Amino acid sequence: IAQDNTFKIGLILPMTGQQATTGRQIEAAARLYMAQNGDTVAGKKIQLIIKDDTSLPDATRRLAQELVVNDKVNVLAGFGITPSALATAPIATQSKTPMVVMAAATSSITQASPYVVRSSFTLPQVSVALADWAPKNGIKKVITLVSDYGPGIDAEKYFKDRLTFNGGQVTEALRVPLRNPDFAPFLQKVRDGKPDALFVFVPSGAGAAVMKQFLERGLDKAGIKLIATGDVTDDDQLNDMGDGALGVVTSHHYSAAHPSALNKKFVEAFGKANKGLRPNFMAVGGYDGMRVIYEALKTTRGQGGGDALLAAMKGQLFESPRGKIFIDAQTRDIVQDVYLRKVEKKDGQLYNVEFDVIKDVKDPGKAK
Ligand code: DHB
Repeated sequence: IAQDNTFKIGLILPMTGQQATTGRQIEAAARLYMAQNGDTVAGKKIQLIIKDDTSLPDATRRLAQELVVNDKVNVLAGFGITPSALATAPIATQSKTPMVVMAAATSSITQASPYVVRSSFTLPQVSVALADWAPKNGIKKVITLVSDYGPGIDAEKYFKDRLTFNGGQVTEALRVPLRNPDFAPFLQKVRDGKPDALFVFVPSGAGAAVMKQFLERGLDKAGIKLIATGDVTDDDQLNDMGDGALGVVTSHHYSAAHPSALNKKFVEAFGKANKGLRPNFMAVGGYDGMRVIYEALKTTRGQGGGDALLAAMKGQLFESPRGKIFIDAQTRDIVQDVYLRKVEKKDGQLYNVEFDVIKDVKDPGKAK
């Protein structure tokens, strides 16, 4: 039972280090959501407590413990990378604190604690769509290149299995370290392997480096197409990647160019509040995660503990800037549309322009 009229959200994010853009995007989105929806809900004053875990899971765990024990937060949220989310899951379980995962995207995270609810996406969810698209578009022989940890391994497996099912072939599966990756030797291998396409997953913030080295090594000129999850053509970086990025096809759940009225308003308000910054898929995960928390607080009229809040998070269905989304009550994972997009120039800016959609995609990682 809350001791005062404050409702505390402990938002743990990488604000510095390799994943800092994730923290910057999610913090900005959470603040925008609060500016638009007020900081009083069901008679409670919302307090956002932001902690920088520098994306080191030991720090995430320690901060989560302090937030629960000392600050007595009502909800834990954020989690820029999978290891940070996995490190916190046991604390959510023990303290019966809902844990809203706004960024991390390995399928298994929701299974690490019954208190996890996800507002981001999963790598299986988006990778399968690209493996359906590729063979219909002349891409049969593919080399995969992924960051060597949870989401990368999910992307590699679900892309490969579906491509193989569709009659294509993954001829080599390359994994590159998460920390300080050097893509050059891997891209040289890709060049020598002469696939129809290279499929890439790297986390948000690393895409520009892959794009730069792909072009510098002349892989495009050698006739190798780059295809990827939308983490690579990240809206946070895309516009600075240059015209070499034009034509790259990706699959993902959010594009800043998504042509809905709600998204246009979101992109404009986000830019206005943040010196023109373009929101990326991390921002939309943070924005929607705040919505999930606010609505749960409204439903429980500010009276519920962790279990009541969790119950009120399950089954939420609403329109997000990305499209219609649903928190599956069974899995606590997000069900959403997945888009195929191509990098194009619009008004002199590079965007991921959506050209096809697969509706209501559940995480394929949950189906046995
Ligand atoms: C994860 C992190 C990312 O930055 C991303 O784009 C996808 C997944 C993760 O660690 O789960």
